[in-house]
Amino acid sequence: MRLLLPPGAAAHDADAALDAFTAPGPPTGRPRVRVNMVASVDGATSADGESRGLSGPPDRRVFHRLRGRADAVVAGAATVRADRYGPARCDAATTAERAARGQAPAPVIVVVSASLELDWEADLFRAPVPTIVAHPRARRLPPAAPPGVRDLPAGDDRVDMAEMVTGLGRGGMTEILCEGGPGVVAQLAAARIIDEVFVAVSPQLVAGDARRMLDGPALVPPVALRLTAVLEADDFLFCRYAAPPG
Ligand SMILES: NC(=O)c1ccc[n+]([C@@H]2O[C@H](COP(=O)([O-])OP(=O)(O)OC[C@H]3O[C@@H](n4cnc5c(N)ncnc54)[C@H](OP(=O)(O)O)[C@@H]3O)[C@@H](O)[C@H]2O)c1
Repeated sequence: MRLLLPPGAAAHDADAALDAFTAPGPPTGRPRVRVNMVASVDGATSADGESRGLSGPPDRRVFHRLRGRADAVVAGAATVRADRYGPARCDAATTAERAARGQAPAPVIVVVSASLELDWEADLFRAPVPTIVAHPRARRLPPAAPPGVRDLPAGDDRVDMAEMVTGLGRGGMTEILCEGGPGVVAQLAAARIIDEVFVAVSPQLVAGDARRMLDGPALVPPVALRLTAVLEADDFLFCRYAAPPG
Protein backbone atom coordinates (compact mmCIF):
# COMPACT_ATOMS: atom_id res chain seq x y z
CA MET A 1 0.00 0.00 0.00
CA ARG A 2 1.65 3.25 -1.15
CA LEU A 3 0.47 6.79 -0.73
CA LEU A 4 1.11 8.53 -4.04
CA LEU A 5 -0.43 11.85 -3.05
CA PRO A 6 0.25 13.89 -1.01
CA PRO A 7 3.96 13.07 -1.02
CA GLY A 8 5.49 12.62 2.41
CA ALA A 9 6.70 10.32 5.12
CA ALA A 10 3.71 7.99 4.82
CA ALA A 11 4.53 7.08 1.22
CA HIS A 12 5.97 3.60 1.88
CA ASP A 13 4.58 2.64 5.30
CA ALA A 14 1.29 0.85 4.67
CA ASP A 15 -0.33 1.65 8.01
CA ALA A 16 0.77 5.27 7.95
CA ALA A 17 -0.41 5.55 4.34
CA LEU A 18 -3.82 4.18 5.25
CA ASP A 19 -4.06 6.49 8.25
CA ALA A 20 -3.13 9.53 6.20
CA PHE A 21 -5.51 8.54 3.39
CA THR A 22 -8.53 8.18 5.68
CA ALA A 23 -7.83 10.83 8.35
CA PRO A 24 -10.73 13.25 8.77
CA GLY A 25 -9.99 16.95 8.46
CA PRO A 26 -10.59 19.35 11.34
CA PRO A 27 -14.13 19.52 12.78
CA THR A 28 -16.47 21.71 10.74
CA GLY A 29 -19.09 22.40 13.40
CA ARG A 30 -21.63 20.28 11.48
CA PRO A 31 -21.79 16.59 10.55
CA ARG A 32 -19.15 15.65 7.99
CA VAL A 33 -20.52 13.47 5.16
CA ARG A 34 -18.09 11.11 3.46
CA VAL A 35 -18.97 8.70 0.67
CA ASN A 36 -17.05 5.50 0.00
CA MET A 37 -17.66 3.32 -3.04
CA VAL A 38 -15.85 0.85 -5.23
CA ALA A 39 -16.13 0.86 -9.01
CA SER A 40 -14.57 -1.21 -11.77
CA VAL A 41 -12.23 0.51 -14.23
CA ASP A 42 -15.21 0.75 -16.61
CA GLY A 43 -17.36 2.45 -13.96
CA ALA A 44 -19.60 -0.41 -12.75
CA THR A 45 -20.57 -0.36 -9.07
CA SER A 46 -21.68 -3.95 -8.93
CA ALA A 47 -20.80 -7.28 -10.48
CA ASP A 48 -23.59 -9.82 -10.61
CA GLY A 49 -25.81 -7.51 -8.52
CA GLU A 50 -23.39 -7.13 -5.59
CA SER A 51 -20.49 -4.81 -4.87
CA ARG A 52 -18.55 -7.68 -3.28
CA GLY A 53 -17.41 -8.93 -6.67
CA LEU A 54 -15.46 -5.70 -7.15
CA SER A 55 -13.84 -5.79 -3.77
CA GLY A 56 -10.52 -7.28 -2.67
CA PRO A 57 -8.20 -7.25 0.37
CA PRO A 58 -6.86 -3.69 -0.13
CA ASP A 59 -10.34 -2.34 -0.70
CA ARG A 60 -11.58 -4.05 2.44
CA ARG A 61 -8.75 -2.45 4.46
CA VAL A 62 -9.72 1.03 3.31
CA PHE A 63 -13.41 0.21 3.82
CA HIS A 64 -12.84 -0.88 7.43
CA ARG A 65 -10.51 2.02 8.21
CA LEU A 66 -13.12 4.49 6.98
CA ARG A 67 -15.78 2.72 9.01
CA GLY A 68 -13.46 2.84 12.01
CA ARG A 69 -13.50 6.63 11.85
CA ALA A 70 -17.28 7.00 11.44
CA ASP A 71 -20.04 7.51 13.98
CA ALA A 72 -22.71 6.38 11.53
CA VAL A 73 -22.67 4.34 8.30
CA VAL A 74 -25.56 5.18 5.99
CA ALA A 75 -26.79 2.77 3.31
CA GLY A 76 -29.89 2.51 1.14
CA ALA A 77 -32.20 -0.41 1.79
CA ALA A 78 -31.36 -2.00 -1.57
CA THR A 79 -27.66 -2.04 -0.67
CA VAL A 80 -28.46 -3.51 2.74
CA ARG A 81 -30.46 -6.25 1.01
CA ALA A 82 -28.04 -6.88 -1.89
CA ASP A 83 -24.84 -6.76 0.16
CA ARG A 84 -26.41 -8.49 3.20
CA TYR A 85 -25.44 -5.90 5.79
CA GLY A 86 -24.81 -6.91 9.38
CA PRO A 87 -23.86 -4.75 12.35
CA ALA A 88 -20.53 -2.92 12.02
CA ARG A 89 -17.65 -4.42 13.98
CA CYS A 90 -14.25 -2.91 14.73
CA ASP A 91 -11.10 -4.73 15.76
CA ALA A 92 -9.60 -4.19 19.22
CA ALA A 93 -7.10 -1.53 18.10
CA THR A 94 -9.76 0.46 16.29
CA THR A 95 -12.14 0.16 19.22
CA ALA A 96 -9.43 1.52 21.53
CA GLU A 97 -8.75 4.43 19.16
CA ARG A 98 -12.45 5.14 19.02
CA ALA A 99 -12.73 5.11 22.81
CA ALA A 100 -9.85 7.63 23.00
CA ARG A 101 -11.80 9.90 20.62
CA GLY A 102 -14.98 9.46 22.67
CA GLN A 103 -16.68 7.36 19.97
CA ALA A 104 -18.85 4.27 20.50
CA PRO A 105 -17.08 0.90 19.98
CA ALA A 106 -18.40 0.66 16.42
CA PRO A 107 -20.38 2.91 14.09
CA VAL A 108 -24.15 2.66 13.98
CA ILE A 109 -25.64 1.43 10.70
CA VAL A 110 -28.35 3.72 9.32
CA VAL A 111 -30.70 2.12 6.77
CA VAL A 112 -32.64 4.46 4.48
CA SER A 113 -36.01 3.00 3.53
CA ALA A 114 -39.48 4.07 2.50
CA SER A 115 -41.10 0.64 2.17
CA LEU A 116 -39.67 -0.58 5.50
CA GLU A 117 -39.70 -4.02 3.91
CA LEU A 118 -36.55 -5.11 5.67
CA ASP A 119 -35.47 -8.46 7.06
CA TRP A 120 -36.29 -7.65 10.66
CA GLU A 121 -35.02 -11.11 11.73
CA ALA A 122 -31.51 -10.28 10.48
CA ASP A 123 -28.60 -9.72 12.88
CA LEU A 124 -28.48 -6.13 11.72
CA PHE A 125 -31.66 -5.39 13.65
CA ARG A 126 -30.93 -7.61 16.65
CA ALA A 127 -27.38 -6.51 17.49
CA PRO A 128 -26.44 -4.86 20.82
CA VAL A 129 -25.59 -1.65 18.94
CA PRO A 130 -29.00 -0.48 17.77
CA THR A 131 -29.44 0.07 14.04
CA ILE A 132 -31.18 3.26 12.95
CA VAL A 133 -33.84 3.21 10.25
CA ALA A 134 -34.32 6.56 8.49
CA HIS A 135 -37.77 6.71 6.93
CA PRO A 136 -40.33 9.26 5.77
CA ARG A 137 -42.57 10.72 8.46
CA ALA A 138 -45.56 9.31 6.57
CA ARG A 139 -44.47 5.77 7.54
CA ARG A 140 -44.11 4.00 10.88
CA LEU A 141 -41.85 1.09 11.79
CA PRO A 142 -43.85 -2.15 11.48
CA PRO A 143 -44.64 -4.29 14.55
CA ALA A 144 -42.06 -6.83 13.31
CA ALA A 145 -39.25 -4.34 14.00
CA PRO A 146 -37.43 -5.36 17.19
CA PRO A 147 -37.77 -2.83 20.03
CA GLY A 148 -34.04 -1.99 19.91
CA VAL A 149 -34.30 -0.49 16.41
CA ARG A 150 -34.19 3.30 16.52
CA ASP A 151 -36.25 5.22 14.04
CA LEU A 152 -35.29 8.49 12.47
CA PRO A 153 -38.19 10.15 10.67
CA ALA A 154 -36.84 12.65 8.12
CA GLY A 155 -38.81 14.11 5.23
CA ASP A 156 -42.50 13.75 4.45
CA ASP A 157 -42.99 11.15 1.70
CA ARG A 158 -39.30 10.41 1.02
CA VAL A 159 -36.34 10.66 3.34
CA ASP A 160 -34.85 14.12 3.04
CA MET A 161 -31.08 13.56 3.12
CA ALA A 162 -30.21 16.93 4.67
CA GLU A 163 -32.82 16.41 7.37
CA MET A 164 -31.51 12.91 8.04
CA VAL A 165 -27.93 14.17 8.41
CA THR A 166 -29.09 16.97 10.70
CA GLY A 167 -31.00 14.40 12.78
CA LEU A 168 -27.89 12.22 13.10
CA GLY A 169 -25.89 15.29 14.11
CA ARG A 170 -28.46 16.11 16.75
CA GLY A 171 -27.86 12.61 18.13
CA GLY A 172 -24.16 13.42 18.50
CA MET A 173 -23.07 11.69 15.26
CA THR A 174 -20.79 14.05 13.40
CA GLU A 175 -18.76 11.66 11.24
CA ILE A 176 -21.17 10.21 8.69
CA LEU A 177 -20.01 7.66 6.13
CA CYS A 178 -22.33 6.75 3.25
CA GLU A 179 -21.61 3.45 1.53
CA GLY A 180 -24.24 3.78 -1.20
CA GLY A 181 -26.00 2.74 -3.15
CA PRO A 182 -25.97 4.96 -6.19
CA GLY A 183 -29.51 6.20 -5.52
CA VAL A 184 -28.74 7.46 -2.01
CA VAL A 185 -25.39 8.97 -3.04
CA ALA A 186 -27.10 10.86 -5.89
CA GLN A 187 -29.56 12.35 -3.40
CA LEU A 188 -26.78 13.40 -1.03
CA ALA A 189 -24.99 15.03 -3.96
CA ALA A 190 -28.20 16.76 -5.08
CA ALA A 191 -28.59 18.13 -1.55
CA ARG A 192 -24.98 19.41 -1.83
CA ILE A 193 -24.03 17.92 1.54
CA ILE A 194 -21.18 15.61 0.54
CA ASP A 195 -17.85 16.72 2.00
CA GLU A 196 -15.63 13.98 0.66
CA VAL A 197 -15.74 11.13 -1.85
CA PHE A 198 -13.55 8.05 -1.62
CA VAL A 199 -13.43 5.92 -4.75
CA ALA A 200 -11.73 2.57 -4.99
CA VAL A 201 -11.00 1.69 -8.61
CA SER A 202 -11.12 -2.08 -8.83
CA PRO A 203 -8.81 -3.55 -11.48
CA GLN A 204 -11.55 -5.19 -13.53
CA LEU A 205 -13.67 -4.60 -16.62
CA VAL A 206 -17.20 -5.93 -16.10
CA ALA A 207 -19.49 -4.22 -18.69
CA GLY A 208 -23.16 -5.24 -18.33
CA ASP A 209 -25.84 -2.93 -16.98
CA ALA A 210 -24.39 -2.13 -13.54
CA ARG A 211 -25.06 1.38 -12.24
CA ARG A 212 -22.63 4.26 -11.98
CA MET A 213 -21.68 5.64 -8.55
CA LEU A 214 -24.50 8.18 -8.69
CA ASP A 215 -27.86 7.28 -10.11
CA GLY A 216 -30.10 10.31 -10.21
CA PRO A 217 -31.00 13.41 -12.20
CA ALA A 218 -28.10 15.41 -13.66
CA LEU A 219 -26.45 17.74 -11.18
CA VAL A 220 -26.60 21.29 -12.54
CA PRO A 221 -24.09 22.68 -11.95
CA PRO A 222 -21.97 19.58 -11.36
CA VAL A 223 -20.37 19.14 -7.96
CA ALA A 224 -16.73 20.14 -8.49
CA LEU A 225 -14.22 17.97 -6.64
CA ARG A 226 -10.62 18.46 -5.63
CA LEU A 227 -8.25 15.47 -5.55
CA THR A 228 -6.63 15.41 -2.10
CA ALA A 229 -5.04 11.95 -1.79
CA VAL A 230 -4.20 8.89 -3.89
CA LEU A 231 -3.29 5.46 -2.59
CA GLU A 232 -2.26 2.39 -4.57
CA ALA A 233 -2.31 -1.27 -3.51
CA ASP A 234 -2.32 -4.51 -5.50
CA ASP A 235 -3.55 -2.84 -8.71
CA PHE A 236 -6.38 -1.05 -6.84
CA LEU A 237 -6.29 2.73 -7.02
CA PHE A 238 -7.88 4.74 -4.21
CA CYS A 239 -8.75 8.40 -4.74
CA ARG A 240 -9.94 10.86 -2.14
CA TYR A 241 -11.75 13.99 -3.27
CA ALA A 242 -12.98 17.00 -1.33
CA ALA A 243 -16.19 18.77 -2.30
CA PRO A 244 -16.65 22.46 -1.64
CA PRO A 245 -19.07 23.37 1.17
CA GLY A 246 -22.64 23.41 -0.19
N1 LIG B 1 -19.82 -0.31 -5.58
C1 LIG B 1 -20.19 0.12 -4.42
O1 LIG B 1 -19.40 0.68 -3.65
C2 LIG B 1 -21.62 -0.07 -4.00
C3 LIG B 1 -22.06 0.49 -2.83
C4 LIG B 1 -23.39 0.30 -2.47
C5 LIG B 1 -24.23 -0.42 -3.28
N2 LIG B 1 -23.77 -0.94 -4.42
C6 LIG B 1 -24.66 -1.72 -5.30
O2 LIG B 1 -25.72 -0.86 -5.68
C7 LIG B 1 -26.94 -1.59 -5.77
C8 LIG B 1 -27.99 -0.95 -4.88
O3 LIG B 1 -28.01 0.43 -5.08
P1 LIG B 1 -29.37 1.23 -5.44
O4 LIG B 1 -28.99 2.63 -5.84
O5 LIG B 1 -30.21 0.39 -6.31
O6 LIG B 1 -30.10 1.28 -4.09
P2 LIG B 1 -29.82 1.99 -2.68
O7 LIG B 1 -29.54 3.44 -2.87
O8 LIG B 1 -28.87 1.19 -1.89
O9 LIG B 1 -31.22 1.76 -2.03
C9 LIG B 1 -32.40 2.18 -2.66
C10 LIG B 1 -33.47 2.00 -1.67
O10 LIG B 1 -33.19 2.86 -0.55
C11 LIG B 1 -34.39 3.43 -0.10
N3 LIG B 1 -34.32 4.85 -0.42
C12 LIG B 1 -33.46 5.50 -1.20
N4 LIG B 1 -33.68 6.82 -1.16
C13 LIG B 1 -34.73 6.99 -0.33
C14 LIG B 1 -35.44 8.13 0.13
N5 LIG B 1 -35.12 9.37 -0.24
N6 LIG B 1 -36.46 7.93 0.98
C15 LIG B 1 -36.80 6.70 1.40
N7 LIG B 1 -36.16 5.57 1.01
C16 LIG B 1 -35.14 5.74 0.15
C17 LIG B 1 -35.51 2.74 -0.81
O11 LIG B 1 -35.75 1.59 -0.02
P3 LIG B 1 -37.13 0.82 0.08
O12 LIG B 1 -37.18 0.01 -1.17
O13 LIG B 1 -37.01 0.00 1.31
O14 LIG B 1 -38.19 1.85 0.16
C18 LIG B 1 -34.85 2.39 -2.14
O15 LIG B 1 -35.49 1.33 -2.80
C19 LIG B 1 -26.59 -3.00 -5.34
O16 LIG B 1 -26.33 -3.75 -6.51
C20 LIG B 1 -25.32 -2.85 -4.54
O17 LIG B 1 -24.52 -4.00 -4.55
C21 LIG B 1 -22.49 -0.78 -4.81
